[in-house]
Formats: sequence, structure tokens, C-alpha cells
Amino acid sequence: MRDAKPRAIYLKDYQPPAYLIDKTVLYFDLHEDHATVEATLHLRRNDGVAGDAPLVLHGQDLQLESVALDGRALDDDEFQAGDETLLVHRVPARFELSTRTRIRSQDNSSLEGLYKSRTMFCTQCEAEGFRKITYYLDRPDVMARFEVAIEADRARYPVLLSNGNAVAREELPGGRHRVRWDDPFPKPAYLFALVAGDLHSVDDSFTTCGGREVALRIFVEEKDLDKCDHAMRSLKKAMRWDEDVYGREYDLDIFNIVAVDDFNMGAMENKSLNIFNSSCVLCSPETTTDKGFQTVEAIVAHEYFHNWSGNRVTCRDWFQLSLKEGFTVFRDAEFSADMGSRTVKRVEDATVLRTLQFAEDAGPMAHPVRPDSFIEISNFYTVTVYEKGAEVVRMIHTLLGPEQFRKGSDLYFERHDGQAVTCEDFVRAMEDASGLDLGQFRRWYSQAGTPLLTVRDEYDPERERYTLVVSQSCPPTPGQPHKEPLLIPLAMGLLGEAGNLPLRLAGEAPDAETADNTHRVLMIDAAEQRFVFEGVGEKPVPSLLRGFSAPVRLEYGYAREDLCALMRRDDDGFVRWDAAQQLAVSVINEVQEQLQANQEPRVAAVYLEACDALLADTSADPAMVADMLRLPGETYLAELAAQRGGADVEAIHGARETVLRALASHCEANWLDAYRRSAVDAPYAPEAAQIAARGLRNTALEYLAAAREEHINLARAQYTAAGNMTDRLAALRVISQRAAAQVREETLAGFYRDWRDESLVVNQWLQVQAAMPGDDALERVRQLMAHEAFDLRNPNKVRALVGGFANGNPLQFHRGDGEGYRFLADVVEQLNSRNPQIASRLLTPLTRWRNYAGERANLMRAQLQRLAALPGLSPDVYEVVSKSLE
Ligand code: PHE
Ligand code: ZN
Repeated sequence: MRDAKPRAIYLKDYQPPAYLIDKTVLYFDLHEDHATVEATLHLRRNDGVAGDAPLVLHGQDLQLESVALDGRALDDDEFQAGDETLLVHRVPARFELSTRTRIRSQDNSSLEGLYKSRTMFCTQCEAEGFRKITYYLDRPDVMARFEVAIEADRARYPVLLSNGNAVAREELPGGRHRVRWDDPFPKPAYLFALVAGDLHSVDDSFTTCGGREVALRIFVEEKDLDKCDHAMRSLKKAMRWDEDVYGREYDLDIFNIVAVDDFNMGAMENKSLNIFNSSCVLCSPETTTDKGFQTVEAIVAHEYFHNWSGNRVTCRDWFQLSLKEGFTVFRDAEFSADMGSRTVKRVEDATVLRTLQFAEDAGPMAHPVRPDSFIEISNFYTVTVYEKGAEVVRMIHTLLGPEQFRKGSDLYFERHDGQAVTCEDFVRAMEDASGLDLGQFRRWYSQAGTPLLTVRDEYDPERERYTLVVSQSCPPTPGQPHKEPLLIPLAMGLLGEAGNLPLRLAGEAPDAETADNTHRVLMIDAAEQRFVFEGVGEKPVPSLLRGFSAPVRLEYGYAREDLCALMRRDDDGFVRWDAAQQLAVSVINEVQEQLQANQEPRVAAVYLEACDALLADTSADPAMVADMLRLPGETYLAELAAQRGGADVEAIHGARETVLRALASHCEANWLDAYRRSAVDAPYAPEAAQIAARGLRNTALEYLAAAREEHINLARAQYTAAGNMTDRLAALRVISQRAAAQVREETLAGFYRDWRDESLVVNQWLQVQAAMPGDDALERVRQLMAHEAFDLRNPNKVRALVGGFANGNPLQFHRGDGEGYRFLADVVEQLNSRNPQIASRLLTPLTRWRNYAGERANLMRAQLQRLAALPGLSPDVYEVVSKSLE
């Protein structure tokens, strides 16, 4: 831990590296109580750098044993080993620097650098973890070829892996062995990986479009060998898709995936040796939900896609993180859309953006897709950099169209193959390939905050003219008081009585109509604009932001009947879903006002009837029906309320629950019918039609249990009969939320008895309990932290239980006495020194203190202040706490 206050670093201060590394030779000698790392770096002074520039290597928590330059051991006065650097004073223009360091991987609980996860050694180097392995130029614009030797006990660690190709295996005296790996592709240190363990693999192969035969392997503990099929299938689909859609072929003869239990994130794209959180690779119908299967497919694809968008072309510096993450999330989203239902995927992504990313953009940690500064880069693996970054790439795709976009991506990969580049390079490739000027569009990279589009309209029946008046604004964010107008693609249509109306803007020739003249993308690029449509014979309902064409809020004063019309009849799935959401929000708000005025709450009949009609329509896509009938979450409602002055947690919960029960009883017959008709008879498969049916059925179950106590029996029967984890967990959730205490406790205890040996299933069990209602919820969570099933060192368990409580149980987290806040701050304090990344991430709900009304805000802030005053705060926690209090 540092003594001084951690300092921010700035994009504007970027300097090219003074030295480059052509080749990195590493020797790992792994032991139970330590590891030694010998590194020989083939260094070269960068062009234009002064001859007396010292060499400054990064290093953290390393014990330096020796340093040599071109084979000569250095004296103590020739170098300086500080807390975070190794400085060598006078070095020639080209030289080899050899260091020998000792590290204590078995004590490394940060899960960054080389660490032990249960019985295996593994690494996590992104973003700045390599410096915990050896002294290095740990920055992404220094790319080297790696030659790696790993030596370890052969019985404990029969499998020794690193990047590239295995070039030698040797037996050594004393029961040890050694494997040598060469990676022909120069790479930054963050893509380095090493794994040593008693692992078993599922093997397959893939023949690329160019005829290269690639050996595919997924390494897991022996007990998990039966849970790799889905990941393997996903990998092969992703490899084929990247060839078909982007023309990208895999470039080595080997591709490995390793599953580890202790991992801070989802997975990591290390060159040819992806390391995965076991929760993001292992699946079986018995242990994994539909959602889990989809997540695995998406993350396997995401990491694979990084081989081009991230590895072959990488980031110049960490401010450019979205260059690889935004683009790769866009790529994996399109892949998932092609594999399943495009509309359902789009609705899911829009939900994440509107709930999590809009909240981040409105909070104290708001930052642009390309941040200008940071204290700790680990804090910037955010929904803004990933998901909003992907939306920015999607808008480029929309502006260019698919063909020009493909030309742009081809040019980008060709021009920058083997380089470390910037977001600007990406945009320029898109411009150069398409001829389109993206000058104003670039502001999306530098401006934080969620733009607001306010839309008004006028209809002139005499002249058959319909006018949309669109204005844009963006609230200030920290450090950015004033915002410039952005270029915003606004996809839209006009809905008439009999369907979509043809669109013709004033000034356009009537015969300029294209095949699809009912849909267009308006370019919003000024503070206020008018769009006049001609030949509009009736007053239409505008269908706006189709496909969620931009990551913005949109306000238009829809009447409830308009929303019902869109919900029922619009062409665009996103707009239909969004209309249902807007209707639900307005109904919930109305009920909240009634309750606050001590009136008998009345849930608007138009809403209940629209929902009932939707449910009765057996021709509709069941996945969409379920999505449309699911009420917006309490956290999202709280964010909306905060925009209007301050969220009242209890009132939101009460109003939402009232609407939920009304919807449940009003549609009870149709819910029952949907429940019965969407039972899946076929054997379990994680494919779209079955997933949709189970989704609707389990949504119906939730409503039925809210409609009438006796329907709990449906949940109990489903729980007992379930042949897969999707249906079993859905039933467990309903029982845990709505059943009488005895049934609840018995079912939960039985679930644990059945699944105690499946750690990932146990995590679901923890999360279900974290979200349980009742004033004893916090007490239950506290007790579970002492349960044998919990482990503070394992991020998945912390996320499931502690994160599950703070994010998934708003009513109890926001208890009036502030104990929920105190509990979270206590856990953050414990994790601060052990695993700063997880500590800092857990803090997010507290940073939203300004959203809450009255005393709650004070209680939340008080916990942040308590943390701020602690000695030895990690830079990760320090940054979030101090920015939240500013
Ligand atoms: N680069 C990884 C991904 O997005 C995420 C990650 C970041 C993993 C940092 C570990 C540490 O795919
Ligand atoms: Zn990624």
C-alpha cells in the first residue's frame, strides 16, 4: 500500500516509451512457498530518445535478487529498486537486461499477477498485473515476442501452459518437469499468461477458411470435464462467424481455454491461452440456467474475437481501452444476435445500458468512452467503456451501413496489424474507407453523460404535413460543465391506423422512395432541428429511437393510447418493448402518487388490458411477451426518480408491487394459460425457442405466485419436477420470495443439500437468499458469510452474496437504520487490502447516495466518509470514495 495519496494520470501526458523490447525470455521456477522469475529483456532505445535517458521498469511486490546488463552483474549504485520501479542509470542503445526476482504467489489474494486459485497457478496481467511478476515496461505500446519456460513439480502440475506453441518438454530430476513455449506474435505484457495445474482437457479441432487445422482445448478440473461441450461449440461457432462476417481467420495452430475458480472478471483474452472465470465457461443443463448458457456463448466469442480486435491490433495506452472493448462487445453482440433472436438481444443490451450505464453516466464516476484521466485503471473496466463504447461502434455501423463498415474494419485491421493504436485510428479507418466525415461524431469518445433528446410534434391536416421538432441536450458531468451537440442517429417511423406510413421529407422527390420507405434514420446534429414530413394523411404516432439507435434518453409526451398502439402494432421490437416499459413506468408513478396521497391505488385499466391482450396473443414471440410484461426494476425506477429530485425506496417498492399484483390478478387466467401452454416437452437444449418458452413460463409463474397464495403450489411442483436448472432456480426464486417461512426454509435447505458440491450452483443459492424480502434479510446475509459455502477470497461468492444484497435487494439494503450501508462498507474495508479491485466494484451502490431522498443520502455518505478516513486505502477504493464525495 502506498503512503502518499494516489495521483491521477492524464491522457494528455502520453509519451512514447523511451525503450522498446524486441524479445522477452522468461524462466519460471514454481514452488509451494515462492516462485522465482528470471527475465531477460532484449531492449532497444526508441527513436529520437536522448542517449542518457535512464531505463525505468515497472515492478510491484517483487523481491529483486540480481540484475545484470549484457551478462555483467550490476553493482548497487548502477540501479535503484524502488517500491514501484527499477531504474537503471546508464544503458547502451541496445542491450540485454536480466533480472532474477522472487514472488510469493501463494499469498497473492489480489488475483492479479501470478496467483494460486485452489490447486493451480495462473496469471492475470491486464491491465497492469505483469509488473507483479517481473520488472518490465508494463504498458501496452511495448510489444515483444515471448519465450517462456515453466518448471514445476510434475505430479502436482502435470499441465504447464503459456502463450503460443509448446516447443519442448523435459523431465527434470526431483520429480520436476519443464515445458517451453514460444509465441511468434509480438504482444504487450498484459496478454501474457501462464497456467500450471492438474488439469484435464476436452479436445477438438477447427479448420479455418484458409485450411489451417487448429487444435482447440478447454482445460478444467477433472470433475468438470462434462461441462465443456457448450463452450467448445460456442468457440467453433465464433471462429466461423468471425471468418464469415469480418473475414478474420485464426492465426496459430493452437487455441486454449482454461477455467479458474478465483477470477476478478469474466474472462481474459491472453494470446492463444484464454483464461476464464469458471462461471463463464462451465455449463450443463442440470447446473446452468438458460441465461448462463447464453453468457458462456457470448463470453467465449468475446474473448475469441479479441484475437483480432485487441491482440493483433492492440491499445496504445489504457485511455484507449474502449478501442478493443467497445469494438469487441459490438462484435459479440452481433454474434449473439445472429445465433439467437436479434430483437431479444437488443432489448437485453438496451436494458443494461439504461439501467447500469445511464446511472454511471449520471453519477460521480461518470467518464467518457475514452477517459481523460484515471487514478487506477482497474476502475475503468466499466459499462461506459464496454457497453456505451459498443453503442458508439454500433452508431458508426448505422451511419456507414454494413458494407462500408466492413470496408472500414478491413482497412483498420490491415493498416494497424501488429500495432498499438488509438480510438482515433479506428475512426479514421472508418472515415477513409467510407468517405464519410465523422468529425462531429468523435465527440462521443470525449464527452461523458447521457444525451437527452426532447421531441415535440405538430400535425397540419390541411397540408398533410407532420413536423418533428427534436432538441438535444446533455447534463453536466464531473469536469465537463458544458456539452457540445453530438451527431445522433435517430431511427424512426410513423405509425398510422393501418400500419406504418410512407415517409417523405419536405424537399424530397416523391419518386425517390426506396423499397423500405417507412423507416429512416434522422441525423440529429444541432441543439434543435425540425423535420417536416409531407403527404401524411392522418395524425401518426411517432415510433422513435427504433432498435435503440443511439445511447440516449428520449422524451416525447406520449398519451397512454399512443403507447398501447406502439406496443401492439409497431414494426420495431425495441419500440414495442420500450412502449410497454414507458407505460409501466407511468402507471407505477401514478400509483406511487396515489399511495403518497393516501388514496386507494388504481392501476390504469388501459395498461392492464393491453397486457392481457398481449398475453392472449399466442402468435407473439414468447420471449418478447415475457420481456414486455416484466416490470422495470426498482433500481431503474429509482434512477428515474432521482432525475426528478430524489428516490423514495419504499414508495417505489410499494407502487411497483401494487402494479405487479394488479397485473397478476387481472390477467390470472391468461397467465395460467401461458404457464401451461409454454411447458417444454423436448429434452433440454439451450436454443432460442426453448429459452423463450421457459422465459415466458417462469415469468408467468412469478405473476401467478403474486396473484394467489395457492399458486405457490405450482412453484413447488415445478421445483420438484424440474429437469434443468433454469426451471428449478426460477421456482426456488419464487418460493424464496413469496412462500410461507417453513416452505421457504425447507426448500432452500434441500437445495443446498442437493447442490453443495457444485460451487457455481451454490453461488446461485447465495444470490437467491441475498434478494429475499423481510427485515431479517441482512441478518441472513451476515450468517451466510460465515457459512461453509461462502469464501471471501472468491469473487464469485462475494458478488453473489454481498453484491446480490446491495444491488438485488433495494428495500433491505436501504433499510432506514443504515445498517445495510454499514454492512457493505465493512465488507469493502475487509477486501480493501486483500482484493482492491473487488472492494472498489462492490462500492458502486453507495456512490449513488445523491439519488436518495432525505436521511438515506446522509447515511450512505457517512459510510463513504468512514472509508475515506481509513489508513492504507488502496488506490482503487481511494479513487471511488474520493470522487463520490467530491
Ligand atoms: N479484457 C477482458 C475482457 O474484456 C476483461 C478483463 C480485464 C479481465 C481485466 C481481467 C482483467 O474480455
Ligand atoms: Zn473484452
